[in-house]
Amino acid sequence: MDKILNWGLLSTAKINRALIKPLRASKRTRLLAVASRSISSAESYAREWNIPRAHGSYEALLADPEIDVVYNSLPNHLHAEWTIKALRAGKHVLCEKPFALTTADVDKMSQAAHDNGRVLAEAFMYRHHAQTLKVKEMVDSGVLGKLQLIKGSFTFTLTREGDIRSKQETGGGSIWDIGCYPISYARMIVGTEPLEVFGWQVKSENGPDDSFIGQMRFEGGIHAQFDSGFRSPDRSMIEIVGTNASLSIPNPFKPRKTAEIYLSHGDKQEKIKIKGNELYLGEVEDMCDAITGKKAPRISHEDSRANVAVILALLESAQLGKPAAPARA
Ligand SMILES: NC(=O)c1ccc[n+]([C@@H]2O[C@H](COP(=O)([O-])OP(=O)(O)OC[C@H]3O[C@@H](n4cnc5c(N)ncnc54)[C@H](OP(=O)(O)O)[C@@H]3O)[C@@H](O)[C@H]2O)c1
Repeated sequence: MDKILNWGLLSTAKINRALIKPLRASKRTRLLAVASRSISSAESYAREWNIPRAHGSYEALLADPEIDVVYNSLPNHLHAEWTIKALRAGKHVLCEKPFALTTADVDKMSQAAHDNGRVLAEAFMYRHHAQTLKVKEMVDSGVLGKLQLIKGSFTFTLTREGDIRSKQETGGGSIWDIGCYPISYARMIVGTEPLEVFGWQVKSENGPDDSFIGQMRFEGGIHAQFDSGFRSPDRSMIEIVGTNASLSIPNPFKPRKTAEIYLSHGDKQEKIKIKGNELYLGEVEDMCDAITGKKAPRISHEDSRANVAVILALLESAQLGKPAAPARA
């Protein structure tokens, strides 16, 4: 029987709610502590969510000898700094997406994980769901024929004033927040990195992009197109087109326990039902497997780094008005 791993939440972020249930559902984890920049906020959060320990600073969580794994749910601009601090404190880290805002930071995070012998993985929860694994298996089996095009969208209407997503200084912008999903999905499906990208953005007043439209060109004549945005209704979808058939995934990034995808040959459409786990449980179990030496994390550091490199190239392209090539490792 594996040791039960004690987890600590680094901040009182809204997204923590998604992790709390799986951390309680898994037989291999215990949610032990939460940290906040103020002790009163940590204590009230701990009371609300029935978490045994509250720490009044992030440093105190990292100094807690009973914490094995830190969930880094800080705003994007703090992912690298606090992930590196946590790894140096001997903790394993599940870090929210986007992993970091520069490839140099990803390299430093990766180096810190290596130097300290700790597991570090990006919290792209959709990657672990049975639906995603089935889609990848179908594409690789050749059922679509030769892969040609991947289209993806992820939008919602951002109404919260002062949200971290709307500020440049906290690593905001729709491409970093949700565009990262269709980009990651397309890269996963193709299995190689784009050679060239082109992007357009609509910027908010004094802030980062409110919406982003991007294209990626892969080797072998494969292309991907996506859009992300904060000023449209809730939309998310992926369509994968091959020479023989296409696959439509109406809920690619937040699939429910039972998911449905559609395989189309011309006007004939087949519904495929997929049974999966609770969405966020996958990343928790994946971390446990990696920490106990059963397998490497499903999302490698190279994969996370490449996603950051593509986003940076798309932003460069949108700024310069011409294609850009993602930086290679
Ligand atoms: N995988 C997913 O499904 C998913 C979904 C949503 C968000 N995310 C990711 O999760 C991260 C957090 O997103 P969120 O919407 O949950 O964030 P949020 O509610 O705004 O929380 C961020 C937390 O970070 C702490 N913090 C430290 N410095 C801060 C600063 N300068 N400004 C604001 N907060 C600061 C605060 O906690 P204290 O006050 O307690 O210190 C705050 O509660 C982001 O990286 C986002 O991309 C992932």
